[in-house]
Amino acid sequence: MKQTYSSVQAVLFVTTFFSCHLCVSWLDDSFSIVNSYSNSNANCLKQCNRMTDKLAKTRLQEAYSPDRLKSLGEYLIARLSTHLTELQSRDHSVLNWNLPEENLPVAFDCLNNQNPDDDLLMRFQSLIETAIERGHNLHHPRYIGHQVPASIPIAGLFDALGSITNQVMAIYEMGPWATSVERALIERWGEIIGLKSGSFTGLVTHGGSLANLTALLTARNVSLENSWSKGMHKHSKPPVLLCQSDSHYCVTRSAGILGLGSEQVIKVPLDSQRKMDANALEELLKDLRKSNTPIVAVCASACATPIGAFDPLEEIADACQRYDVWLHVDAAHGGAVSFSDKHRYLINGITAADSFICDAHKTLFVPALCAFVFYRNKSHRFETFQQDAPYLFDPSAPGMANIDSGMVTIECTKRAATYGLWGVWSLFGPQIFGDMIDSTFEMTRTLYEKLSDAEDFSPLHEPECNILVFRYIPPEKYGLDENQIGELNRKVRRHIIESGEFYIVQTNLDGIGALRVTVMNPLTEVEDLDRLLQSIRDTALKILQT
Ligand SMILES: Cc1ncc(COP(=O)(O)O)c(C=O)c1O
Repeated sequence: MKQTYSSVQAVLFVTTFFSCHLCVSWLDDSFSIVNSYSNSNANCLKQCNRMTDKLAKTRLQEAYSPDRLKSLGEYLIARLSTHLTELQSRDHSVLNWNLPEENLPVAFDCLNNQNPDDDLLMRFQSLIETAIERGHNLHHPRYIGHQVPASIPIAGLFDALGSITNQVMAIYEMGPWATSVERALIERWGEIIGLKSGSFTGLVTHGGSLANLTALLTARNVSLENSWSKGMHKHSKPPVLLCQSDSHYCVTRSAGILGLGSEQVIKVPLDSQRKMDANALEELLKDLRKSNTPIVAVCASACATPIGAFDPLEEIADACQRYDVWLHVDAAHGGAVSFSDKHRYLINGITAADSFICDAHKTLFVPALCAFVFYRNKSHRFETFQQDAPYLFDPSAPGMANIDSGMVTIECTKRAATYGLWGVWSLFGPQIFGDMIDSTFEMTRTLYEKLSDAEDFSPLHEPECNILVFRYIPPEKYGLDENQIGELNRKVRRHIIESGEFYIVQTNLDGIGALRVTVMNPLTEVEDLDRLLQSIRDTALKILQT
């Protein structure tokens, strides 16, 4: 290998040597010829450089041309409007299913085929078509899969405003409007949730996982004194984090990242409705305090991912207060119920938590990513990162530290993540978020009733929100045992999503496969649900008969 490399190097060296005309010195009687050759070559090089300069200049002018932006933008908006119309009339597949080995070559082709002679608008159109043809259609009313919404399309326009003008923040002067919008939303949403104006604070970050990590880092720094500066060595016993058994995997992942160790996460048992058992929590806290085990926090869920169960936050908060333990609530999915008069009771008690998170890119129906962290006590805001960054934080404007986002987020440069939310809230008023919650929760209830009435379906819980888990159980069971029924449900789902008719997800409940839907589109209708049940039946029978 080494030898091959050095022979390649030798060839390269000789080629370069000659092409650079260093051989000139070896040709003792032909200076003038060489000189004239060399001059003409230098002219040629200059000309080439000029041409390359010109091409580069044209490329840069095209890339920054406001007229180009207008023509491409007009095309894009018109195309998206047609696309959304097709989706809303159910005239299109939900998931455009292609294996990675089918999609990747196309993605590489797009990168490789940039013929500068092609018309830019045509190339743009072709790229947009490829993305639409191969993407996932979350705006199809029959997308009822993951907890990612059919986002309000107009919110995307506000996000585009932020992206096209590249609004970012870290310190206030980098993004004065982006920072102001974010602060205003933190204040208003916090008040709607019920926090006391003036005493709480918060931040916005890129997603629920990062939001949980940020809040749990704050909890660790407050609960374990000096852990930020000295690390985790000084504790005689390894500290623990308690969470409910169904909590999102990002909670355990946070424990790993924070240096606690993923095995130091104690899973609090669940009750019959898969909620954290507050009595079991009380017992655990009592024992941990008795044994002098340091406790970082209790992490409750509102709601937990598998079946959307909301923990009894009031009882949990009482227990945490009794044992002086930091309470964090992962309300990534459920925090938005605060906008609904009908459903806000689900998070009663959240205002007693020391910290909690809510994902606007889930149940406030804005594009990803836009996650909020709230701290009940304003003073905790600067416990997350106990450090100075003098090049960023200007001592001539010390008051600005209260508003600079970089003081409290893991990100330094951060995109204007709240533009979409700010735009929709300002245009329609906060009632639109309550409408979204009520309509999607009610549609899920309707599905539950349909499943309960059907003899060949079994809903596995009563839904508290827009998440519902169930199984198809074929008539007479076809002689299948429980595990085989779980397997059948998985196969049915795979067939259905690959057909493009619906997008639903699968899960494991008590070790057995099941189907899981989350209604994340207010345009999903009862007829869609009827069609889903029929499609599951037809697909299952086809599988069983082959
Ligand atoms: C309860 C809960 N917490 C956290 C997360 C992670 O959020 P994100 O995907 O925004 O990182 C999820 C994602 O589904 C979730 O359901």
